[in-house]
Amino acid sequence: MTDPALPEDLLDFIRRSPTPYHVVDNARLMLRDAGFRHLTETKPWPDAVSAGFVTRDDGSLIAFRGGRKPLLENGLRLAGVHTDSPCLRLRPNPTRESQGYGQFSVETYGGVLLHPWYDRDLSLAGRISGLDDAGGLVSSLIDFRDPVAFIPSLAIHLDREANKGRNINPQTELSPVVLRLGEGESFDLEEVLLERIRRDRPEAGFARVLSWDLLLYDTQPPARVGIHGEFIASARLDNLLSAFVALRALLDAEDEYASVIVCNDHEEVGSVSASGARGTFLSAVLERLISEEDKGAGGFSRLMQNSLMLSVDNAHGVHPNFADRHDGGHRPMLNGGPVIKINANQRYAGSSRSVALFKALCGKTGVPWQSFTNRADLACGSTIGPLTAAEIGIPVLDIGVAQFGMHSIRELAGSEDPGHLLRCITAFYNRLV
Ligand code: CO
Repeated sequence: MTDPALPEDLLDFIRRSPTPYHVVDNARLMLRDAGFRHLTETKPWPDAVSAGFVTRDDGSLIAFRGGRKPLLENGLRLAGVHTDSPCLRLRPNPTRESQGYGQFSVETYGGVLLHPWYDRDLSLAGRISGLDDAGGLVSSLIDFRDPVAFIPSLAIHLDREANKGRNINPQTELSPVVLRLGEGESFDLEEVLLERIRRDRPEAGFARVLSWDLLLYDTQPPARVGIHGEFIASARLDNLLSAFVALRALLDAEDEYASVIVCNDHEEVGSVSASGARGTFLSAVLERLISEEDKGAGGFSRLMQNSLMLSVDNAHGVHPNFADRHDGGHRPMLNGGPVIKINANQRYAGSSRSVALFKALCGKTGVPWQSFTNRADLACGSTIGPLTAAEIGIPVLDIGVAQFGMHSIRELAGSEDPGHLLRCITAFYNRLV
């Protein structure tokens, strides 16, 4: 029943998706190939679209199947994920010079685990904007693919305290080295970007580069790890594992009931943006699925109250070297199936009702499930679940597979869990419960 190629397909998707813009672009191709219609928010939509998708600001995407059953009475099933991951981003003035070296000037994005960024072969990718020959605005994705930068560790001989919990100052100690500069030479990134985009995407017509959303990423490809290959190691498992699996579930879903996926950018920085979970993207798209007549009759709230969302984001597996960081009664294991995330203070969304539905779904599909709550003396993380519940009033349950090293440049998850998750979300869309 589980597709044996799923972990490899997932790792390939992650490898090709170093930034939220690439995630959305790759999702767009998958949806287009499956016959989903590309709609835009700036234009009217045709009356009956059975399967479509919309993007906003290149980093967020919503895709839907309309279903055959009446929408308001039956509601919709929604899976929510995020497309962004903590990383280092280039500043507006992106270069600096020190000791004869050209470096990138970077800012941290989200809750970056800083130590693992040292000694990696880093590349650069994202979105650039500028002007074409006629002076019109142009934008394009860009990916250097090859390693172009490196943040070297300081030798232990020059820092005898290095293994004793040294702090990293992200302003002064994280600038990646890019090149050696000769006497009087300087490092002009705009020139490098223009040359690269003209070579890679001549059709974009760039004559000048004016601005960018560029981030650094590790070029080491994702891998199967473990004596029996029971783990997967990669950057961005949080949350591209969930994004890819939920997307596949939507592609696999039957057309009986309405099914939706929302992929939001900016989760790692609090979701407050036009394309984030606290913006209007989801409500604007869902409103357009409701007929004019129903809108006047409380259609939106009727739809929301008949609907259910799974907010899918990875959970913390209990780490064998640091098991005391978990509550003893809640210790999610890698390859142990999806984790139901509960927080009494609503940092995760859910209720006994939605938890029961999810456990019943797992039971019907033969998938194991686990529960997570934080230690009471540790601050709890959060995700798009509670935010979306508050914004549009839809009941939400937070779930996700267990992983190690969340927000590291290389994370570890179980290779069985993508299959577990796929079965659950597909069953959720198909309303097995
Ligand atoms: Co996440």
